[in-house]
Amino acid sequence: MLKRLDELQDQALKQVEQAADSAALAQVESAYTGKKGEITTVLRSIGTLPADERKAVGEKANVVKQAVDAAIASRADALKASELGAAMQAGAIDVTLPGRPLPVGRIHPANQTLRELAAIWAEMGFQVYRSRDVEDDDTNFTLLNLPPHHPARDMWDTFHTTQPGVLLRTHTSPGQIHAMRQYAPEPIRIILPGMCYRYEQVSARSEVQFNQLEGLAVGYNIHMTDLKGTIVAFARRMFGEKVAVRFRSSHFPFTEPSIEVDVECFLCGGEGCAVCKKTGWLEIAGAGMVHPVVLKNGGYDPSKFSGFAFGMGPERMTMLRHGITDIRYFWGNDPRFLEQF
Ligand code: PHE
Repeated sequence: MLKRLDELQDQALKQVEQAADSAALAQVESAYTGKKGEITTVLRSIGTLPADERKAVGEKANVVKQAVDAAIASRADALKASELGAAMQAGAIDVTLPGRPLPVGRIHPANQTLRELAAIWAEMGFQVYRSRDVEDDDTNFTLLNLPPHHPARDMWDTFHTTQPGVLLRTHTSPGQIHAMRQYAPEPIRIILPGMCYRYEQVSARSEVQFNQLEGLAVGYNIHMTDLKGTIVAFARRMFGEKVAVRFRSSHFPFTEPSIEVDVECFLCGGEGCAVCKKTGWLEIAGAGMVHPVVLKNGGYDPSKFSGFAFGMGPERMTMLRHGITDIRYFWGNDPRFLEQF
């Protein structure tokens, strides 16, 4: 019996050592020291042994049980620790991995320029007036002193809709009519930024859609000198204190007299380069004194009121400023272009 106990101990300790996880260890425990375990059975059977064997077997069985219990307890601790370690590793978050990038949007280069322009004009007391993109023929042309069949309409190739007389505005000037009719006879000082549309061959220099920024001032005693001074003040804020400004006479049916505005080429400083086509000047706006017919169409008495208007192209300014050589990039939706700004 004593020999049998030695064997049981050896077997039990070996199996405890080999138990790969808690479940296997629990099986070993029930096989030896559990209620029906072999060592437990030996302990229970001591009473049936011959009297002279009982003491030795009883002592031995207790020693063996203690040794096995101790081995099971220490193995259980070791298994618990390694199982916890494995669980932690399986559910681990690798804090050293780089985070997922959050895509950050940015402001379109044309809108950047528009915002800059709006800020400059705001400083000079011009409020933003929003006008519709879909216009009627009257407001886009006729009320701006361009009656049907007027040859100057050729300057604005037009997208017409299937509804007669409804078109996409070819310039922001029709907004002048809306604003005047809303505010007359109050004085006006506004800018009208927004998309314009022209039915033109798309090329590096012209797109079918582009922004304009229109300006309009209407009031008493507004003169050509006010227009010129205002444009110069704008140009200095936009292009720098020392920039030279040049006015050329021009023609628009809705202004009289009409001018075009050039600024000294800020790339070559007037020396002449590829951007200014060797002239030293860059055209930035069309402008003029609001035509009396237009004032009247807007609800102002031209014998009492006068005003000036101008129209500039934000994309053109952006192109000049950044050396962008093709206007098609603006609405081409190519992130490689847009991400540069
Ligand atoms: N509307 C004109 C254009 O599109 C620009 C302009 C605006 C000229 C206001 C004079 C006054 O070309």
